[in-house]
Amino acid sequence: MLLTLPDILDADALRQSRLLLDGAPWGDGRESAGSQAVEVKNNQQLPHDCEAARGIRELVLRGLDRSPRFFSAALPLKVFTPRVNRYGGDTNAYGDHIDNAVRALPDGRRVRTDISCTVFLNEPYEYDGGELVVADTYGQHSVKLPAGHAVLYPGTSLHQVRPVTRGARIACFFWVESMVRSDEQRRLLFDLDMNLLALRQRHGESAETTALTGTYHNLLRLWANT
Ligand code: NI
Repeated sequence: MLLTLPDILDADALRQSRLLLDGAPWGDGRESAGSQAVEVKNNQQLPHDCEAARGIRELVLRGLDRSPRFFSAALPLKVFTPRVNRYGGDTNAYGDHIDNAVRALPDGRRVRTDISCTVFLNEPYEYDGGELVVADTYGQHSVKLPAGHAVLYPGTSLHQVRPVTRGARIACFFWVESMVRSDEQRRLLFDLDMNLLALRQRHGESAETTALTGTYHNLLRLWANT
């Protein structure tokens, strides 16, 4: 499932992230790529522990925490430390690749990358190109969102970032290990949850919404690993 989440960062958080990015110490993005991806990756990243990366990570994680839609879509078990990258100038693209299935956190714990997420940190008019292109069974999807908006897509997808030909594209990216490993099952749960929410808003609570909420939880119990 490919899903956009508007306003993970609000105007205030975006202002703060811009201040943090001012003069930030960009490094080579290949440092965190796997052996196939390193051949096609050509961008810059902030070092894990610089002030800008830590500040932006905190803003993004706080934004995700406030988003019921993120929780419902991702059903997160673990989130891999968000990183910040930049495409522009001579380091402006990332060719087709599939992300590594498992990543190690600094403390040695492992995260299975069920879901990939990108949070756009600057506006589409600030650069040309830079679309995230994700391929699935329905074809190719080109994604370029306003600052503060996020996109989630399955970690299993072949994807690329198109060359940036003017300006720079700055984004935060990370992976989620979900309690529900299967993208299909997550999709069913998300649809059920969102439609229950809409039903409740329209008609209030009823015996049917109570029963269907039970069905949601019973499916989650069946499919979730915690
Ligand atoms: Ni990738």
